[in-house]
Amino acid sequence: MTRKVVIAANWKMNKSAPEVSAFFDRFLPDFEPVDGAEIWIAPVSIHLAEAVRRCSGAPVVVAAQNAHGEPRGAFTGELAASQVAETGARGVILGHSERRSFFGETDAGVSSRLAGVLGAGLSAIVCAGESLDVREKGETLPLIERQLEGSLAGSRSEDSGRIRIAYEPVWAIGTGRQAEIPQIDEVHGFIRAWLRERFGYNPGSAVPILYGGSVRPEGAPELLEREDVDGLLVGGASLDPVGFSQLVRAGGQRFRRRSASPGPSGS
Ligand code: PGA
Repeated sequence: MTRKVVIAANWKMNKSAPEVSAFFDRFLPDFEPVDGAEIWIAPVSIHLAEAVRRCSGAPVVVAAQNAHGEPRGAFTGELAASQVAETGARGVILGHSERRSFFGETDAGVSSRLAGVLGAGLSAIVCAGESLDVREKGETLPLIERQLEGSLAGSRSEDSGRIRIAYEPVWAIGTGRQAEIPQIDEVHGFIRAWLRERFGYNPGSAVPILYGGSVRPEGAPELLEREDVDGLLVGGASLDPVGFSQLVRAGGQRFRRRSASPGPSGS
């Protein structure tokens, strides 16, 4: 089994309706799907249905940037996972550090959102990552472990095929300062070991682990070459259709190389 490669665009609170349309006008004609390379695009929620319509026929996972665990109710401003699914979207990003730091989301909250997302038949990218302060205190791995334990508290091995993890150091997001390769290797290796422990060796080996934080198209091949970097979660650089196409191509090339030489990184 060759682990899939995931290239995900997190547009955050960017792009007007005409800009969404212009992105797809430019991106879709050049898009060359590769089996095993999974492409995600997460616009703001009011553009989900339009993104689904534009991507119909193209293997793109249109995704929400968050979703609530309850199917309905008095939760002003929230969006139920089942309502995300109704738009035709197939994924949700959960526990992004901007949700955690600006909107007070907790690991327990992410876990209940994840239950709703999986229950609605969707896939999730669950984010984890440390602040600079935590890194400088040498507490990165214990924090990542707590975030994973808490955010994935209710998920079972059977769900693992629809879960992707993103390691996003908070200090690397939107700062232009990508984490260094040894730092990424260490945390991704730790997450891989945690996943194998949590879901069992084979299901845990199959869960893609994405890196996010100031990823640029020119740096993507080096990142994707690492043993446990199975994809990228990209903010700023994903807004540009040409740059995002380059990232998508790098993901496809990486998957082809993995399937050509299934060694430890492809198993
Ligand atoms: P960035 O954002 O690529 O702009 O650093 C990544 C993210 O927040 O997902």
